[in-house]
Amino acid sequence: MSEAIKLMFADISKDYDKMNTVLSFGIHHLWRKKVVKLSGINSNSKILDCASGTGDLALEFKKTAINGEVVATDFCVEMLDYIKPKEEKLNLKVKTEFADVMNLQYSNNYFDVSSISFGIRNVDDPKVGISEMARVVKSGGKVIVLETGQPKGIMKLFYKLYSKKIMPFLGNLIAKNEAAYTYLPQTASKFPYGEKFVEIMRSTEKFIDIKAYPVTFGVAYIYVGIVK
Ligand SMILES: C[S@@+](CC[C@H](N)C(=O)[O-])C[C@H]1O[C@@H](n2cnc3c(N)ncnc32)[C@H](O)[C@@H]1O
Repeated sequence: MSEAIKLMFADISKDYDKMNTVLSFGIHHLWRKKVVKLSGINSNSKILDCASGTGDLALEFKKTAINGEVVATDFCVEMLDYIKPKEEKLNLKVKTEFADVMNLQYSNNYFDVSSISFGIRNVDDPKVGISEMARVVKSGGKVIVLETGQPKGIMKLFYKLYSKKIMPFLGNLIAKNEAAYTYLPQTASKFPYGEKFVEIMRSTEKFIDIKAYPVTFGVAYIYVGIVK
């Protein structure tokens, strides 16, 4: 499963940023800013961004943790390769390293914050991934997850049509990979969100508190867990 996921992301890596911007109308940048705000980090903080992909969240953290340590990790190195040009453009520097969320190579209690955006639903076992992310964070630090949700009310119908028809169409047009952009919204529609995802985090028994923040009518959620 994870091998197929890796290959899929390697295949779409070149067009991944363009697709993100088109598919979310650029709103994903605002969600990332909110993640950084909720993280409460300062200029010296140490942050591990997991399943970092092309590094947008890691770079957003670095804008604040300017004297700290931001490590952008992924198991698909082709995705990480796209961080470098963005670092140059933004005049920011993060560390990029290969890491599998299911088995992180970092010491216990080292980071102030660990994060994952739009990655946890692709991980083979999200509970194991979250446990690993909590293990490497100091007591009182935070694990933050940004992941898709499902909007309610009138937005629900629009979103369903958008993710079932428009996303695969644009995936084919822009990234020449309709299968990937059929698979990604499909996994999003099946993935637990809101209280159900909080329950997965809680089941790790690693947190003293967990909060869920819906953004943009529940199209996405930010989950913040305070580590025991
Ligand atoms: C949809 S992309 C999200 C990338 C980025 N975080 C973002 O917000 O745009 C999902 C990423 O998760 C990575 N991924 C999936 N499973 C992983 C795992 N077990 N360990 C590390 N990275 C993983 C993929 O390689 C891919 O880069």
